[in-house]
Amino acid sequence: MVRELRHCEEHGIAFVPWSPLGGIGGGSAGVGERSPAIGEAARAHGVSPQQVTLAWELSLGERVVPISGAGRPASILDSAGAMTLRLEPAELEAIGTILEG
Ligand SMILES: NC(=O)c1ccc[n+]([C@@H]2O[C@H](COP(=O)([O-])OP(=O)(O)OC[C@H]3O[C@@H](n4cnc5c(N)ncnc54)[C@H](OP(=O)(O)O)[C@@H]3O)[C@@H](O)[C@H]2O)c1
Repeated sequence: MVRELRHCEEHGIAFVPWSPLGGIGGGSAGVGERSPAIGEAARAHGVSPQQVTLAWELSLGERVVPISGAGRPASILDSAGAMTLRLEPAELEAIGTILEG
């Protein structure tokens, strides 16, 4: 994954994460449990794990364009908060370990 991101960055290619929240089949709901670092950051900032996930994806580089799906207006409003949520470097590093898998 890191290699693909680097390739996109170097060649000016947009990277659109597939199912950025884990998908519409229930994957999104458990994102804070699957990655404890995401759950912890969400609690620390008082926001949803989904918002943290999108903020972290946005932090990966300006070529990374997460486009989450949503059926509920509340999800859209919540996710929009990811654009201004600033995660601490230590939080970004802890969440980033999921790229190593
Ligand atoms: N994955 C594919 O193969 C594929 C292919 C073609 C099209 N699409 C479309 O692309 C869109 C994205 O799908 P995806 O598979 O990539 O799923 P995703 O974006 O990883 O996850 C979408 C799920 O996340 C929930 N969600 C979004 N923002 C949230 C928030 N802030 N808080 C809590 N829950 C939140 C949505 O719930 P609510 O619906 O309850 O708001 C929905 O169940 C969908 O509209 C899908 O139809 C996907």
